[in-house]
Amino acid sequence: MNIAIIGTGYVGLVSGVCFSEMGINVECIDIDTEKIASLQAGEIPIYEPGLDSLLERNQRAGRLHFTTSIAEGIAHAEVIFIAVGTPSRSDGGVELCYVEEVARQIGRNLDHYAVVATKSTVPVGTAKHIHNIIASEIAANNRTVEFDIVSNPEFLKEGAAIKDFMSPDRVVVGVENERARRIMARLYKPFMFISDRIIYMDIASAELMKYAANAMLATRISFMNEIANLCDKVGANIDSVRKGIGTDVRIGSKFLYAGCGYGGSCFPKDVRALAETGRNAGCTMDVIEAVNRVNIRQKSIIVERLKEHFGSLESLNIAIWGLSFKPETDDMREAPSLVVIEELHSAGAHIKAFDPEAMETCRRMVSCEMEYATDMYDAVVDADALILLTEWKQFRMPSWQILRRSMRGNVIMDGRNIYDRSEIEEHGFIYKAIGK
Ligand SMILES: NC(=O)c1ccc[n+]([C@@H]2O[C@H](COP(=O)([O-])OP(=O)(O)OC[C@H]3O[C@@H](n4cnc5c(N)ncnc54)[C@H](O)[C@@H]3O)[C@@H](O)[C@H]2O)c1
Repeated sequence: MNIAIIGTGYVGLVSGVCFSEMGINVECIDIDTEKIASLQAGEIPIYEPGLDSLLERNQRAGRLHFTTSIAEGIAHAEVIFIAVGTPSRSDGGVELCYVEEVARQIGRNLDHYAVVATKSTVPVGTAKHIHNIIASEIAANNRTVEFDIVSNPEFLKEGAAIKDFMSPDRVVVGVENERARRIMARLYKPFMFISDRIIYMDIASAELMKYAANAMLATRISFMNEIANLCDKVGANIDSVRKGIGTDVRIGSKFLYAGCGYGGSCFPKDVRALAETGRNAGCTMDVIEAVNRVNIRQKSIIVERLKEHFGSLESLNIAIWGLSFKPETDDMREAPSLVVIEELHSAGAHIKAFDPEAMETCRRMVSCEMEYATDMYDAVVDADALILLTEWKQFRMPSWQILRRSMRGNVIMDGRNIYDRSEIEEHGFIYKAIGK
């Protein structure tokens, strides 16, 4: 089977590599010439565990190709995926210009029947919009080409993307036509050997369910953050509260961890987009709006706590461990670290940060003055306080002796609630966390 994936970012690249691992011939297409040149040379522009060996193997086997030409890339494709970015507009709505441009290009170049599948997260109604764009481009050129649109939202998590793609909890296919349904079933069959986990539905429901899934997860986080903030005020411990509620099978234990807010390329923008969809449809989304507000406030909690402790942060040395929005990725889109760095900088603090993978990303995204450490212990030399922002494995059991010797102060601000208060206090530190 031949497929094409337009947009070779986190989702497009991982999808392309994983489909090719199953023996499918994949053309990955992107307008970023530098990205395509490095991928053609076998170099991966992102950090994602396990991706490099799969890329190498499938490129060598001749099943995985990279091109900047849509015409060339879709020439033999039975399925054409749209996997370009759908960032937030300033009003919270979704910027669809990349999706629209790809649809125009498909319409201009398609010369055979294909299924066009949206993997990008797009608002309800976008499939119809894409259909109209492709159809009008085909008509403008006086051609007759058949195609079908399906919605195939992606659920992979950065940092565990290969595993998520190769063994998905479910694959959602929004499809309203038997021919397209059969093609999608064949494409995903290799991933369904143990059990068939494809869920078919109408296209609008598939488009909406992706937002609902992300909003549900974000809601759990904001809910726990709000409870954690209350714990701090009334002297309760969020860890105990979490264990107590998570053992209720109706609630479950996942995604109940309080911290300094969620970030990443999906939750913040998808929550905002769902609220915007509600506004456009005349359906107020009170819960969703609150989830977003709580998260924005939560990202400021770290610096607020430090200010409560120190009074002023002017000229203090603050060490940061972790910049990426979560471990095992170099992605910093909407990461809490961006807010913390900006607030520390405005408060006059001197920042020295370390992250195992995201320092280059940070250099590109952050313009204010800050220092980058050579390793986690270099970051804390002469620090008045250490803030943990991303729970990378290497930060989970640090040597408190080294920290005590290297730091000038003794404040540990645990933004992910991973440390044990008594252990830290035994070493003479002041421990601050979220709701503990
Ligand atoms: N990142 C995730 O974890 C994740 C998970 C599930 C769903 N999604 C959704 O998938 C979509 C893609 O996200 P991402 O994180 O991979 O984005 P990304 O920004 O990493 O990649 C998008 C790619 O599309 C390319 N592109 C833009 N316009 C193009 C065009 N006209 N032709 C060809 N390529 C073009 C860009 O150059 C870029 O390489 C988004 O809608 C996102 O919400 C992302």
